[in-house]
Amino acid sequence: MSISSTSPTPIAILSALLQEQQGLMELLHQPHKVTHAGRDFWLGELHGRSVVLALSKIGKVAAATTATALIERFGVRRMVFTGVAGGLGAGVNVGDVVVASEFVQHDLDASPLFPRYEVPLYGRARFEGDAALTALLFNAASAALGDGGASAAFPVARVHRGLIASGDRFVSGAGESRSLHATLTGAGHQVLAVEMEGAAVAQVCLDYGVPFAAVRTISDRADDSAHVDFPRFIEQVASRYAHAIVEKLLVSLEP
Ligand code: ADE
Repeated sequence: MSISSTSPTPIAILSALLQEQQGLMELLHQPHKVTHAGRDFWLGELHGRSVVLALSKIGKVAAATTATALIERFGVRRMVFTGVAGGLGAGVNVGDVVVASEFVQHDLDASPLFPRYEVPLYGRARFEGDAALTALLFNAASAALGDGGASAAFPVARVHRGLIASGDRFVSGAGESRSLHATLTGAGHQVLAVEMEGAAVAQVCLDYGVPFAAVRTISDRADDSAHVDFPRFIEQVASRYAHAIVEKLLVSLEP
């Protein structure tokens, strides 16, 4: 299968939600859909780059399957994730953006065989984003929000860089979120945000040696109101951020 006439190594743009993907799909040149492993992959060009757009689906296993398919079937050699997350760290507010420097699986516990959070047989709890790609993504996010990209509802949105925790759970209680933050902090993991896929994609990308970077817009504080206005936030804020950030990133990439 020919993936692109312009580049043999497309960049994967993974979105957590359909609304986030839609803005990118509208700009996709020569779109071509391939259905594989129960997922739709959209091949085409964005800003002169060969890309594959895909939905991660929700949760660690689904996201790992999507990431593996992107690498094995579509030959991607760089992967970027855009999505939303709950803010856990102090000062990480709704409307802010977090670029992941590292990932940890907050629901992984093989103790007493291995230290809590450590991924068995990897000898580590944390997986890093690719330094160069993450730096470009951070710059893209800062430029996108600074350029009038910040929404009217969140005019003082900040861009953070740090640790993101992933797990198969939508965290939606103030008590749970406090205890998650305290337990992770107690184990030396100063987490900024929580979501459901990033650490799994990071692990797959480490296995394959594929550079990975992720950006998350904070949609909630992982507390009792975490579910309120979630769809409206995705549509009106997160999708626009994702679109603007990916655009800035793609134009800043080396060929
Ligand atoms: N994604 C967005 N908000 C989240 C939350 N509170 N918990 C897990 N994943 C999320």
